[in-house]
Amino acid sequence: MAFTSFTYRLVVIWATILTCHVAINNSELSTTQLEKEALLNSSWWSKSSMTNNTSDHCKWVGITCNSAGAITKINLYNYEILGELGQFNFFYFPNLEFLDLGWNNLSGRIPSQIGILSNLRILYLDGNDLTGVIPSQIGALSKLTTLYLDRNYLTGVIPSQIGALSKLTTLSLDRNYLTGAIPSKIWSLRNLDYLYLNKNNFTGPVSSLLVKLTDLFLNSNKLNGSIPDELTRLTQLEVVDLSDNKLSGHIPSGIKSYIELKSLNLSYNNLSGSIPLNIGGESLSQLDLSNNNLSGAIPDSFFSLEYLDLSYNNLEGPIPLHLQYLKPRLKGNKELAYTMVVTEKCDVYSFGVVALEVLMGRHPEEIISLSSSDQNVMLIDVLDSRLSPPVNRIVKQEIMLVSIIAFACLRSKPKSRPTMKRVSQEFLKQKTSFAKSFGKIYISELRNQEMYLFDEYDA
Ligand SMILES: *[C@@H]1O[C@H](CO)[C@@H](O)[C@H](O)[C@H]1NC(C)=O
Ligand SMILES: *[C@@H]1O[C@H](CO)[C@@H](O)[C@H](O)[C@H]1NC(C)=O
Ligand SMILES: *[C@@H]1O[C@H](CO)[C@@H](O)[C@H](O)[C@H]1NC(C)=O
Ligand SMILES: *[C@@H]1O[C@H](CO)[C@@H](O)[C@H](O)[C@H]1NC(C)=O
Ligand SMILES: *[C@@H]1O[C@H](CO)[C@@H](O)[C@H](O)[C@H]1NC(C)=O
Ligand SMILES: *[C@@H]1O[C@H](CO)[C@@H](O)[C@H](O)[C@H]1NC(C)=O
Ligand SMILES: *[C@@H]1O[C@H](CO)[C@@H](O)[C@H](O)[C@H]1NC(C)=O
Ligand SMILES: *[C@@H]1O[C@H](CO)[C@@H](O)[C@H](O)[C@H]1NC(C)=O
Ligand SMILES: *[C@@H]1O[C@H](CO)[C@@H](O)[C@H](O)[C@H]1NC(C)=O
Ligand SMILES: *[C@@H]1O[C@H](CO)[C@@H](O)[C@H](O)[C@H]1NC(C)=O
Repeated sequence: MAFTSFTYRLVVIWATILTCHVAINNSELSTTQLEKEALLNSSWWSKSSMTNNTSDHCKWVGITCNSAGAITKINLYNYEILGELGQFNFFYFPNLEFLDLGWNNLSGRIPSQIGILSNLRILYLDGNDLTGVIPSQIGALSKLTTLYLDRNYLTGVIPSQIGALSKLTTLSLDRNYLTGAIPSKIWSLRNLDYLYLNKNNFTGPVSSLLVKLTDLFLNSNKLNGSIPDELTRLTQLEVVDLSDNKLSGHIPSGIKSYIELKSLNLSYNNLSGSIPLNIGGESLSQLDLSNNNLSGAIPDSFFSLEYLDLSYNNLEGPIPLHLQYLKPRLKGNKELAYTMVVTEKCDVYSFGVVALEVLMGRHPEEIISLSSSDQNVMLIDVLDSRLSPPVNRIVKQEIMLVSIIAFACLRSKPKSRPTMKRVSQEFLKQKTSFAKSFGKIYISELRNQEMYLFDEYDA
């Protein structure tokens, strides 16, 4: 339960007292009359364009009332209202469920009286000029599911009482001037789908999370420590941005369990070690690991990537073939085994050239121009000699597969080359039927493979 500490209980008690106080203080006047007066007192509805020239405040701009005539919803999103948020007297709106004052010019502090809105489910105060701290009384809004306080000038720490908002699904505090550690209670808000704490000055560790989060934005803070292994238990994550912090240590290898993950940004940290195999799984389309201290080889495992930035690390070795068409950013690494030449067009011929260049570590013109009478050039002899020779059986098989396909792509008659679609299918199948020992294969044998002569749909 969220209310296990005295701090939370005090907030609840405080809210109860205020509610009673208002009820007693105003027992002679009708609630709806007071609501109307409080609306007018805020000065936001002082213009006739806001009141529609009617005395029934339920018909005023942005106001929704229930059947009893009490205000349940106020929506003044982007209404150019000016002044202090404190002009709005929260005491008189106990039935309010929805309050959107986002994208206005409200200044001043968030009044602690906001804690009295015990029926509030949705609160938007984003995009204003609010200053001061987030009042701890916000923890009394126990029905809150959605809280947007982003893009203000809020300072101080996140009150730990936010941990009492157990129904919260979206918490957005980004682009403020908040400091201190992220309260541990936030990591146990089990219903949270979206967490945006980016662009503040939070320090301390990223904690474990047990929630069903889909979006996690903690970027551009000063968070340190390592990325917790527990983070990999959040299997519903789709977008993770931890970039521009001071995180160190390794990327947890369990990160492959992110089956839904589409975008992962860990750039501008101090991460070291190697890139885990199968990082992010099959749905990953954007990966930015640039500006860290990652070392080792680039894993041969990303398949649906559309954007890849690995620049400014300590990576080495070849770039896996199927990543070449992405034009990955790789500047600032150790010298990679070859220079990348990737053409804009996804044509099979340049694919063949690039594929052979990757294997050979140089432009393959000498091999391409070999006449069919040069029978004695062996595959093993044209491979990049700067790399240690392949020993693993699967690696050898893949080299053969790539070579066979590459030579098919380089056939002199364009019509006898496979289509790019066929090439990708063959890669995905990963099947070679080459029985001969790797060290004894001649280039001429690879060239004469009939299997990729025609696209299967053309046949
Ligand atoms: C309660 O009523 C008194 C006057 O009777 C008034 O001065 C005070 O502002 C009221 N308090 C609230 C919270 O409405
Ligand atoms: C509105 O403002 C007047 C004058 O400041 C004050 O007397 C009155 O109590 C206020 N009413 C409400 C409902 O806030
Ligand atoms: C509202 O009333 C004012 C005068 O009080 C008038 O000038 C204006 O045109 C009216 N607007 C509408 C929409 O009736
Ligand atoms: C009141 O006026 C605003 C615009 O001035 C309009 O959007 C709103 O629908 C009007 N409300 C009613 C109840 O006519
Ligand atoms: C309201 O805020 C916007 C955006 O910050 C700004 O461009 C505009 O000038 C402000 N309006 C007033 C009246 O202060
Ligand atoms: C973070 O703190 C630094 C000083 O340590 C300050 O210059 C910067 O403006 C702060 N940024 C934010 C978003 O609070
Ligand atoms: C994180 O930074 C704080 C100081 O800001 C330091 O005390 C702490 O040891 C650091 N933690 C790690 C794991 O580096
Ligand atoms: C990753 O984060 C960095 C720093 O926050 C940013 O500059 C970069 O554009 C992001 N990468 C992607 C692919 O969005
Ligand atoms: C980066 O991490 C290494 C340990 O992996 C540490 O020795 C070094 O001080 C860190 N650098 C920065 C700038 O935090
Ligand atoms: C990067 O890691 C290497 C060890 O792998 C270490 O020697 C070096 O200091 C690290 N660089 C930075 C900037 O942390």
